[in-house]
Amino acid sequence: MSNSALVQEGLALCFPTSQQIASEFPLPAPINQRHYLVAGELKEWQGELAPVESPVQLRDEHSSTLSTITLGATPLLDATAALTALDAAVAAYDLGRGLWPCLSVIDRVNHVEQFLSAMLKQRDKVVQLLMWEIGKNAQDAAKEFDRTCDYIRDTIHALKQQDRAASHFVIEQGVMGKIRRVPVGVALCMGPYNYPLNETFTTLIPALIMGNTVIFKPAKYGVLLIEPLLAAFRDCFPAGVINVIYGRGRETVGALMASGKIDVFAFIGTNKGASDLKRLHPKPHRLRAVLGLDAKNPAIVLPCADLAATAKEVIAGALAFNGQRCTALKIIWVPRAQADAFNQLCVERINQLKVAMPWQQGADITPLPEPNKTQHLDALLQDALVHGASVQNPHGGEFIGSLYRPALLYPVNASMRLYHEEQFGPLVPVVPYDSIDEVIDYVIHSDFGQQLSIFGQDSAAIGPLVDIFANQVGRININSQCQRSPDSFPFTGRKDSAEGTLSVEDALLQFSIPTLVAAKHNAQQIDLVKSMIKERHSTFLATDFLF
Ligand code: G3H
Repeated sequence: MSNSALVQEGLALCFPTSQQIASEFPLPAPINQRHYLVAGELKEWQGELAPVESPVQLRDEHSSTLSTITLGATPLLDATAALTALDAAVAAYDLGRGLWPCLSVIDRVNHVEQFLSAMLKQRDKVVQLLMWEIGKNAQDAAKEFDRTCDYIRDTIHALKQQDRAASHFVIEQGVMGKIRRVPVGVALCMGPYNYPLNETFTTLIPALIMGNTVIFKPAKYGVLLIEPLLAAFRDCFPAGVINVIYGRGRETVGALMASGKIDVFAFIGTNKGASDLKRLHPKPHRLRAVLGLDAKNPAIVLPCADLAATAKEVIAGALAFNGQRCTALKIIWVPRAQADAFNQLCVERINQLKVAMPWQQGADITPLPEPNKTQHLDALLQDALVHGASVQNPHGGEFIGSLYRPALLYPVNASMRLYHEEQFGPLVPVVPYDSIDEVIDYVIHSDFGQQLSIFGQDSAAIGPLVDIFANQVGRININSQCQRSPDSFPFTGRKDSAEGTLSVEDALLQFSIPTLVAAKHNAQQIDLVKSMIKERHSTFLATDFLF
């Protein structure tokens, strides 16, 4: 057997046999889902289904060949079915006169709390599907579920705070006014496959709780894990307030956008996908967009950095969940004189990463959910090799099936695809620099502007860079990897990386607009307004304090 065949076989051994699956890693019962949620009903789809395949492949005990594990299927709705969901959301909003947009804040909060209780009962199923559908390790899958529940609790808390602050009247220049935030209309929410629960719910929940009606299309992968929540959505919200559809984006979402009836488009994905869909809306000025898009976050290692601590943080930032985070560090800049020492330290960290299946203790590198992703990563790696880089870590870039061993590539330069393209996978490109101006030039001319990380110990070196980069990216991290959390911090980006800002509080603002009632501040108008409040003739004017 050739050396490379041996290596491949070694990697193949990480995949489970049917015996292991039966005894150690129970496979969820197949979910052949035909139902989808429209107008408060789980409707049965009679058409084609889309198979859902696991990134975890099955290994033949004797030959070590790999085969696909099918987890189930989801309905492949067409445009007509998707439009029935739109009709339901439009009817439930009823031009702002529907039950949901007119409901008091506390009543909407009650519905969301009810949903949260129902969702918590599905924790085990959802966490298990997160592992099987997208290959997220057990610890991170559980964290994604729990973080999402925390996000819902924090959203409720933030909304109550906002409402308390808005319960009073403002008196300015002889005018009294009461300002409240009200819903925008019908929202379309779509999330990404790397955080199919958490990131989707960070738009879905604020959209709902602010009184919008919603059409939710789950991510491309990580789609079955929504199935255990469908009944909770149906039971906890009035009919038509939340509608869940499945199918090809082009057909379903394209039709929704072309209808012109979507008022808010919440999308986490590529900037190209977002632009193509936005363009379909006939009245773009009436469409509000909340977008989380591509990123190529740089790590900038300064000569004054603690190299060992930096290498540890950089590798964690670049390779957590196989580098499939929008916030992952995707290009590493290192002073040329320190590059060899830094690379060595990084290689030591990479060598410690465990390639394993999601449910195995300490699994760091797990199978990738996108079909042919390993070939795509290999093409990026081969392109870097052709242009002069080499793989620094032993076995880096070896792959079989859906498993890919991380590779540290050095020296990377502008002629390589990896210098420009978002890899969204376990490749770590390291670029040597002679002058910090090269790094500044890269950042300011990049199409992306989500975050960056600066590593160093000298405040006189870091401070001026903070000021330069403050107008380039949404967040500057010092001696730590890029990340979204804590969720109370604004999560945003510039250029092709984002539109709008998401944090627990900001998301509430994205899915609402301020409306105010104003009157002259004189005795007659004061009496009139007081009467409306006292007699509870207006919910909008009510000054109830939410406890
Ligand atoms: O994929 C993008 C996620 O929002 C990143 O979140 O930084 O907490 O992993 P995270």
